[in-house]
Amino acid sequence: MISVAIMGHGVVGSGVAEILATHKQKLFAAIGEEINVKYILDLREFPDSPFADRFTKDFSLISEDIEVRVVVETMGGLHPAYEYVKECLSKGKSVVTSNKELVAAYGAELLAIASEQNANFLFEASVGGGIPIIRPINQCLVANNVSEIAGILNGTTNFILTKMIHEGMGFDEALKLAQELGYAERNPEADVEGHDACRKICILASLTFGKHIYPDAVHTEGITKITAADVEYAAVWGGVIKLIGSVKKLDKDTIDIIVAPMFVPGNSQLANIDDVFNGVMVRGDCTGDVVFYGKGAGKLPTASAVVADIVDSIKHIKSRKYLSWADSDNSSVLPFEKSVRAMYVRGVTDDREAAYDRAAAVFGDIHRLSKDNAPEGEIAFITEPLPYEEFESKLNELSEIKAESVIRIGDL
Ligand code: HSE
Repeated sequence: MISVAIMGHGVVGSGVAEILATHKQKLFAAIGEEINVKYILDLREFPDSPFADRFTKDFSLISEDIEVRVVVETMGGLHPAYEYVKECLSKGKSVVTSNKELVAAYGAELLAIASEQNANFLFEASVGGGIPIIRPINQCLVANNVSEIAGILNGTTNFILTKMIHEGMGFDEALKLAQELGYAERNPEADVEGHDACRKICILASLTFGKHIYPDAVHTEGITKITAADVEYAAVWGGVIKLIGSVKKLDKDTIDIIVAPMFVPGNSQLANIDDVFNGVMVRGDCTGDVVFYGKGAGKLPTASAVVADIVDSIKHIKSRKYLSWADSDNSSVLPFEKSVRAMYVRGVTDDREAAYDRAAAVFGDIHRLSKDNAPEGEIAFITEPLPYEEFESKLNELSEIKAESVIRIGDL
């Protein structure tokens, strides 16, 4: 029998306890040992829980107990999750977490401690919820040179954009619905401003390219400025707007990494990933594109990934999994101003034809977009690919156009 502890009995933590109970036989068959949930750490009381006798508020009971070989961290947030995880790893316990904020902020350090202690630090659930993505990149695709990863990594914003695209809702109405359905938090900032997706693309980039990429080095834009008009112009262009986390390897020392809303062509594998679903495309030199799709959030999907990591940790209790990356100073991140993409512009002008001519004179080839219900004086067009700093300076030259929206075009 192997004893584990679960720190945090929220949505994911309670799902982990539930799966360990409901899938006991299945898990026993997989590892040949029974998994005993010895402690559940939470400040709240759960007198009606079937695990009521396992609850504790005392972290030291877990960290000091040598019988506890695997600790699950599903508390979320950075503190005290970081301190608790660090202490458990330092004592040689393996740690499994769903906490993307923790991995994105301290992954390199925690992986190094795990390595010193011959313990495992696993976090399959931190990206894509129930979708296998960390293990496939680390193991199944290890023979590939991966040149690019791009994905819809946040379910809440994908739900909001789906409602805007298919039901014509405005951003505020779609956000309110997402909150009513329990997808969006009361304070939705981490999701709608792109921070959650940023943490996830940082984890994938760190894993793929072997150097820790910290979220504050990544240009991040959310979806709060997307309007119904932009959604309609994207449809005219032949695509949809999605919040994309993207990382491309430019050369051996440089990656282009960003989180931003992008026009995604209708024939892209990412274009039809709707509602709260996530999708991640990994471009390998041997495999070509591999796409992972499924539920990126939610109690049981996310807990399923956590339990898989528990099983893996138990199976590798004496042999560490080779999951690691080096720390870094973010110097491999291309400044976002240098990043090359085609751009969509929507703006207002006094004289449409003259403004289009001026835009063509400044940007070179442009692709005009027009829609039936456009207000008087509205123009929209797409430029050829160019570095962002050049785009900005050219847009500033266009004094006859007051830009209301600029969105990147994803080559996806
Ligand atoms: N808030 C996240 C999302 C939860 O909407 O995708 C899963 O990480």
